[in-house]
Amino acid sequence: MMYAGVAKTNRPVRMDMRSDTVTQPTAAMRRAMAEAEVGDDVYGDDPTVNALQDKAAKLLGKEAGLFVATGTQSNLCATLAHCQRGDEILVGDSYHIFRDEAGGAAVLGGVMMAPVLTGASGAMRPDDIAATVKPDDAHCAISRLLCLENTVAGHVQSAKTINEMAAVGRAHGLAVHLDGARLMNAVVKLGISAAELVAGVDTVSLCLSKGLGTPAGSVLVGPADFIRRAHRIRKLVGGGMRQIGVLAAAGIHALDHHIDRLADDHTHALRLAEGLSKVKAIQVNPEAVETNMVFIGLPDGAADGLRAHLAERGILLGGGKKQIRLVTHLDITGDDIDLLTEEISHYFA
Ligand SMILES: Cc1ncc(COP(=O)(O)O)c(C=O)c1O
Repeated sequence: MMYAGVAKTNRPVRMDMRSDTVTQPTAAMRRAMAEAEVGDDVYGDDPTVNALQDKAAKLLGKEAGLFVATGTQSNLCATLAHCQRGDEILVGDSYHIFRDEAGGAAVLGGVMMAPVLTGASGAMRPDDIAATVKPDDAHCAISRLLCLENTVAGHVQSAKTINEMAAVGRAHGLAVHLDGARLMNAVVKLGISAAELVAGVDTVSLCLSKGLGTPAGSVLVGPADFIRRAHRIRKLVGGGMRQIGVLAAAGIHALDHHIDRLADDHTHALRLAEGLSKVKAIQVNPEAVETNMVFIGLPDGAADGLRAHLAERGILLGGGKKQIRLVTHLDITGDDIDLLTEEISHYFA
């Protein structure tokens, strides 16, 4: 199934701006995958998976890591390893765990989700977090876990912001999990180490298949006993895979070669926003572009026409009626940005 409103095209795709998940593995990444040493990971025998797990844990300053199929599976293993039936997760109301993961923690774990208002910056207010924690009362679910996200719709959450939110959770006895699907975009933007940025949280999910450009995979990191519980849950949800060193090798390659280059994606996003800000029909604020996402506001009824027009030219945009998200990534060049700006400018001229 496609997301509603996403134009399909029979034309060869020249530029895919729908997401940073659409990247093709590079030739060097494919080589690393082809040459990977593998074993049966359900037996713990895959040396490349083990190396990736150790590398990610070290990078994020946590004790242990677990390679999983997707970001959704990673967050699910995390929430179920933190919580029991009847527990409750506090989570930003715009965050992926709450809105876009099919309610997995509730469906499979009997865990409630209590949404907390997310501001325009992507953060929750500490007071709102505190007010959402339930009292020790038989009427209430047991507040157990606070879930954060970074980046949030392209917005960077600083270490200070993360630590302030986490501190409120901790003061109320909650564990803290961070959905870091695009954590490395925040790391590159802030210019601090990943470990420093996540020092205030207990567990982190890092996606390898977004800006980092692998075909699949995420790594969940945290304390060793937590990872042991998450490992059992990964099996329970059918995520015990075998010779997946071929995928883990892509992850190792991405961590070695694709982190620093995220700065190019950020530069491209800003350049796109600046170019489009000159198009009268479009609302866009270059100052709001912090990483690799640009949100453009369109006149009523214009979105479908623009999407179809660009699709005819091999350019894919994401869904949305009034607002469209444009995402830069590994396969988008500076020339692509100029071409896209030109195409959109012409369309509205
Ligand atoms: C913030 C965030 N978290 C988690 C995920 C889930 O990742 P996956 O699609 O690999 O399940 C996504 C996917 O886009 C995401 O944007």
